[in-house]
Amino acid sequence: MKHTRIIVTHYGGPDAIRVVEEECPEPKAGEVRVRVLAAGVSLPDIMAREGIHPETPAVPYTPGWDLVGVVDRLGDGTSGIVPGQVVAAMPIHGAYAEFVCLPERELVPVPPGLDAAEAVSLVLNYITAYQMLHRSAHVRPGQRALIHGAAGGVGSALLQLGRLAGLELYGTCSSRGARTVSDLGAIPIDYQHEDFAKEIHRLTGEGVDVVFDPIGGSHLWHSRKALRPGGRVVGYGNATSLRGKGLVSSRPGSRNRLHGIPIYALYIAGSWLLPGRKRIVPYSIQTLKRWNPAWFRQDLLALLDLLQQKKIRPLVAQRLPLVEARHAQELLGKGGVTGKIVLVRDGSSLESGAP
Ligand SMILES: NC(=O)c1ccc[n+]([C@@H]2O[C@H](COP(=O)([O-])OP(=O)(O)OC[C@H]3O[C@@H](n4cnc5c(N)ncnc54)[C@H](OP(=O)(O)O)[C@@H]3O)[C@@H](O)[C@H]2O)c1
Repeated sequence: MKHTRIIVTHYGGPDAIRVVEEECPEPKAGEVRVRVLAAGVSLPDIMAREGIHPETPAVPYTPGWDLVGVVDRLGDGTSGIVPGQVVAAMPIHGAYAEFVCLPERELVPVPPGLDAAEAVSLVLNYITAYQMLHRSAHVRPGQRALIHGAAGGVGSALLQLGRLAGLELYGTCSSRGARTVSDLGAIPIDYQHEDFAKEIHRLTGEGVDVVFDPIGGSHLWHSRKALRPGGRVVGYGNATSLRGKGLVSSRPGSRNRLHGIPIYALYIAGSWLLPGRKRIVPYSIQTLKRWNPAWFRQDLLALLDLLQQKKIRPLVAQRLPLVEARHAQELLGKGGVTGKIVLVRDGSSLESGAP
């Protein structure tokens, strides 16, 4: 049986993305073959394509951090899982495909009846948001939080979960995202026309308890200025590292997984050494998952429960068919997307259990 998958042929712009058709993979011992219903498209996918994400694989590779799919075939030695079961996983790469084989231990069961595109939004974006709020920042009701990129995939997840946690929320965004940010209960700050640190002090007086910063570089230092004494910046990205205006460069690059990391480390160290008790701490979903896989599973199950109870509602910006992966990354790279772009089977809206 043939299937379609996407490959990145070299590090660089969207022209590195190809659609290939080949034999369906067979599960090895301990593996399960999953028919992908929905695969998330994220900035880390684009950073890996550009060769500058710490998790960038060697080319050629299939992108795609997160997926929701249906168990299709079991390899030898698997137990406790049955064909037809809906599951979620975060393979980090490989999800942009019709079928993917994964170790059984990587799969988390998805309750029936959920929309696959909404469910996949939980895997990378909401776990990142949830763990930063509750495992890194240990937020408490009534605290103030500033969320950068608040209309984006992780940003909108932080707003929804921050509201559930009883936080007072501020969110930076471009003017295109302001409506979404205020609809999600935060005060929008236009990062393109305002100095967010000054604006935070004007609005709050002493500053916020926590800032969530995916931009990295010197931006981390500016975020620190928005803190009250004793507050912390959770740094979780390095979007400033991206090459090419609007992330659509067609210059071929090379793999540099440490890109921007030394400067990042310098800002973190500086924040701990300088007076003021305003610390910068890093967060990485993949590092925490490797260190404590049980937390990843536990947090995803908690989020699936919140989705089932309709306490969270992921924003799905667009549902596109797998073969439009290049277009999907181009759209995300151009900016102004509110929520998550998802590659879905047949490009249609799917219930996660649908055949
Ligand atoms: N550490 C981890 O474990 C982890 C996990 C997941 C994601 N991430 C990181 O999280 C970041 C966001 O990923 P995503 O998939 O959510 O991306 P996304 O959906 O593209 O969201 C990014 C948002 O940032 C906004 N933005 C761009 N420049 C900005 C600036 N200078 N100030 C404030 N907002 C700005 C964009 O708004 P406009 O387009 O309107 O300008 C966009 O809404 C990436 O850096 C990614 O690497 C880290």
